[in-house]
Amino acid sequence: MKSYQQVYNILVTETDYLSGEKIAERLNISRTAVWKAIQRLQQEGLIIDSIKNRGYKLLQGDLILPQEIEANSPITVQFKPITKSTQTDAKKAVEAGSTGDTLYLSTSQTAGRGRFHRPYFSPPQGGIYMSLHIKPNLPYNQLPAYTLLVAGAIYKAIKNLAMIDVSIKWVNDIYLNQKKIAGILTEAVTSIETGLVTDIIIGVGLNFSIMDFPQDLREKAGSLFPNGAPITRNELIAEIWRCFYETNSDELLHFYKTNSLVLGKDIRFKQGEEILSGKATNISDKGELQIELANGKKMWLNSGEISLTKW
Ligand code: BTN
Repeated sequence: MKSYQQVYNILVTETDYLSGEKIAERLNISRTAVWKAIQRLQQEGLIIDSIKNRGYKLLQGDLILPQEIEANSPITVQFKPITKSTQTDAKKAVEAGSTGDTLYLSTSQTAGRGRFHRPYFSPPQGGIYMSLHIKPNLPYNQLPAYTLLVAGAIYKAIKNLAMIDVSIKWVNDIYLNQKKIAGILTEAVTSIETGLVTDIIIGVGLNFSIMDFPQDLREKAGSLFPNGAPITRNELIAEIWRCFYETNSDELLHFYKTNSLVLGKDIRFKQGEEILSGKATNISDKGELQIELANGKKMWLNSGEISLTKW
């Protein structure tokens, strides 16, 4: 375990300030090494107070510990405290021939992106940014609806660990108290030779305990734990991917549908230049949304083609 991880393990169990000298003694490292470890923890978004002659106290935040996630889930973790985008990290690994079932994880992104190339807010404090690379090797029409399955796994993991019921807005958004707390971006790589989808990258951004959002997001975005978290990010990350790998697809799709914010609601959607409206009546196992129009006709919407304007 690295020095900064050991320093974190000490601070997380202390209720009072602890001097750099005592930390150094306990770990048998120098005071400069303790100071460097504190700097590293602060860079990773932890809020640590320091008072002259008293020492350090962890006020807020937790530390991502890749080895803890690996010990509690069936995936390998590649962690960088800061990156441009974990989606790009995963793509580079695909190009380098990675074997898959690997999670590219970060606590801060400088160029995080969402669907339709929108920027994705990824500050250093309180977020989870991760992209899972898997290798399905299947024709496109036989692919499971990964976005729905991961949304179902996020629902189940949060329920298991915190007894909170989040809601899912078709097709890729997780909501709590009418605010978006997570988004999913699924991207595919297809082989021109075989026509098979060789690689899938499922990106998840989750506002775990982000305290402050920029003005333009304040109305729409929220955090899972806006007032302090009863669990760690390590626990939630491991539980999400454990649920994804170890839960039957039917059960995950059931969670997706029963916690949908859209099903049974009147919605308006844009198709080309036209605004249409109807009632959302079903979600297929492939992820399409069924709409019953005012004239009684039913149609299936594909997430790539439309955007919901109201629900
Ligand atoms: C959306 O809401 O439109 C999807 C957001 C997906 C964001 C995640 S954060 C981890 C991964 N890296 C990125 O750059 N994007 C995804």
